[in-house]
Amino acid sequence: MRRREFLLGSGAAAGTLALGGFGLAENTQELVIQPASFALRDQVTTGMVSLSADAPPPVLYGRQGEVMRLPVHNTLPDYTAMHWHGLRIPNAMDGVPYLTQMPMGEGELFNYEFTPPDAGTYWYHPHCMTMEQMAHGLTGVMVITEPDDPGFDSEQVINLRDFRLNEEDQFLPAFTKRGAARSGTFGNVHTANWLETPIYDHAAGGLVRLRVVNTDTTRIYKLHLSEARARIIAWDGHPVETDVPMPGNDAPLLVGPGQRVDFAVTMPKGEDQTVDLMAKLPGQPPIAMARLRAMGQSQARDLRELRALPVNPVAKPDLNAAELHEFVFGWTPEGGEPNNGFCGSLGYNFWSINRKPWPGDAAQGVGPLATLELGKTYVLRLRNESPNLHPIHLHGLAFVPLKSNQRQLPPLMTDTMLLLKDEVVEIALVADNPGDWAFHCHVIEHQKTGLTGFIRVA
Ligand code: C2O
Ligand code: CU
Ligand code: CU
Repeated sequence: MRRREFLLGSGAAAGTLALGGFGLAENTQELVIQPASFALRDQVTTGMVSLSADAPPPVLYGRQGEVMRLPVHNTLPDYTAMHWHGLRIPNAMDGVPYLTQMPMGEGELFNYEFTPPDAGTYWYHPHCMTMEQMAHGLTGVMVITEPDDPGFDSEQVINLRDFRLNEEDQFLPAFTKRGAARSGTFGNVHTANWLETPIYDHAAGGLVRLRVVNTDTTRIYKLHLSEARARIIAWDGHPVETDVPMPGNDAPLLVGPGQRVDFAVTMPKGEDQTVDLMAKLPGQPPIAMARLRAMGQSQARDLRELRALPVNPVAKPDLNAAELHEFVFGWTPEGGEPNNGFCGSLGYNFWSINRKPWPGDAAQGVGPLATLELGKTYVLRLRNESPNLHPIHLHGLAFVPLKSNQRQLPPLMTDTMLLLKDEVVEIALVADNPGDWAFHCHVIEHQKTGLTGFIRVA
């Protein structure tokens, strides 16, 4: 029996809402990237990377439309740069090495400062030495709150990710040549907030906002909730404006690396009853990644008491005036040695966008995959020419899926589109944020072996 259950004290548990907490007063929070140790399983795992010596990267809270100052210090001997996934902020704050800033060496500081235009569930991770630092722990959740809460009693953040450990609970290599050339290398310890099946207490009969984030480097989670009255209220940060069917055991929700889903959950009325976030892993029955446990007298709340989330100020594409660009994601015809400067390379290329493998983060003279005119609407046709799934992520802009050659796609605003095997999806966006925006697969082994590029908005 290796699976443990953790009891984390009542509402004060890690990941619950801490409004007015650390740093919010002056909107500044210092982040120190450093080595960490933590008992992910039975024994303490060393060689982790976090923002404190013995805990997961914290949930960072900000308010929509209010400045956030996040000075990042690098104390690691490796280079780094921090990226704020999903936030539509100025290009210079996007944290992409060589494209928007120079990598930060040991002892260096970068003052990130931006005002999130959108509320919702986002996350942060390094974009330099990505494989090494993310696989070892450096992935955290960002919550940008709306000016008015829609009426929840409490909130729970769940950061889902795997770690790849040996029998002594120490790290195995995060990538393999075989994995990089296929669907990636998977971890074997499945965690929520760095814990195996943590239990979080929330008021019986209360309304909980459950924010689930997949920060894994590889795994596409297949999720559903156990018995519960619940609704999906946001997807990849943005409020859903149409009804999205709740996933079930036989029709789980696919959440790729980088993606987020917010549920409004009604807690069971009876004390100690739980609502479980279930994941289906290959070759085994679904497991509970995390549990919400009902505590105290029933609040007898109802989902209908929630106010709708205010829609984020994302410009609506004008499809009549749209120009089309095509992107093909597949294996690379040429291979070749990648050159990643200070930001790490796996040492080989397997993947490409428009048949060109990304030559490496530090490569000189690499042009954009497309140049979009500021303020215009574009349709991007994304074609997956491989049998593997790819969560395709675009920085700095939000987009909406229009259609697929394989399935009905609800028009959910996003920054990451999960492409299925051989799928062709058209997405639409307004190119209203100027800069060079990274565009890549969020399976890090694909990203680091060619499946990367950038789109210029000018
Ligand atoms: Cu979440 Cu380019 O990254
Ligand atoms: Cu991003
Ligand atoms: Cu991929």
